[in-house]
Amino acid sequence: MGVPGAGKGTHAAALSEKLRAPQISTGDMLRAAVSAGDPLGREAEGYMNRGELVPDRLVIELVVQRVNEADCTTGFILDGFPRTVGQAKALRAAGVKLDVVLELHVPEAEIIERMTGRRIHPASGRIYHVTRHPPRVAGRDDATGEALMQRPDDAEEIVRKRLADYQAVASALTAYYRQWAASGDPDAPRCLRVDGSGGVATSRTRVFAALGLQ
Ligand code: AP5
Repeated sequence: MGVPGAGKGTHAAALSEKLRAPQISTGDMLRAAVSAGDPLGREAEGYMNRGELVPDRLVIELVVQRVNEADCTTGFILDGFPRTVGQAKALRAAGVKLDVVLELHVPEAEIIERMTGRRIHPASGRIYHVTRHPPRVAGRDDATGEALMQRPDDAEEIVRKRLADYQAVASALTAYYRQWAASGDPDAPRCLRVDGSGGVATSRTRVFAALGLQ
């Protein structure tokens, strides 16, 4: 969990490599559906471009199906899901067990600079930043050399709306997981809050340490 631009995608990719577990990003899945122009993408596109969450029903089924695929049997990393208490409850009802819920905390002023400098490689989901995490060749993906793009929802006014909307929804979600953990239920995930500010390497070290990884 974390505000837009907190580093969920960046650190989920590093964890995916470290743990050899697939990264399941609902944002990437939805962007792929938009690019493909399929029915899910056509329905999701307007919400995403306005910086709004897409309706729960569109993402829940997508994730539940994905975590039941063969490459997820030994584990997976969810990136950007669940986002609402409804999504968290649906995951629990589907019997999908989580070990840890990790929330990245980053001050708002730092977020605006991150988002406006972000560039992505649409085909792979690889994430760069023009100054903080630049590609080797400006505007080009390191692995393929293909052009990088800026997400439409990274325009500053849309970023500000996404940040404002996040707080209300996320505090309910955090409370849901904290109450579950406090209930003593052995199936409840551990809740961790990590400082995601500063450079990518610094915050990655904090994330790995919180999870007991080196
Ligand atoms: P999604 O793609 O999940 O976007 P988001 O939550 O708004 O988060 P971002 O991808 O913007 O940021 P991030 O935290 O992954 O940061 P990143 O690692 O890229 O969702 C997009 C849209 O899809 C939503 O608005 C919604 O419409 C829809 N959607 C998706 N999931 C949904 C769901 N479950 N329910 C309903 N709707 C859903 O880093 C940001 C930048 O900062 C990068 O350029 C990075 O290089 C740079 N950076 C600089 N310093 C650091 C640092 N210290 N750590 C990490 N990155 C850093």
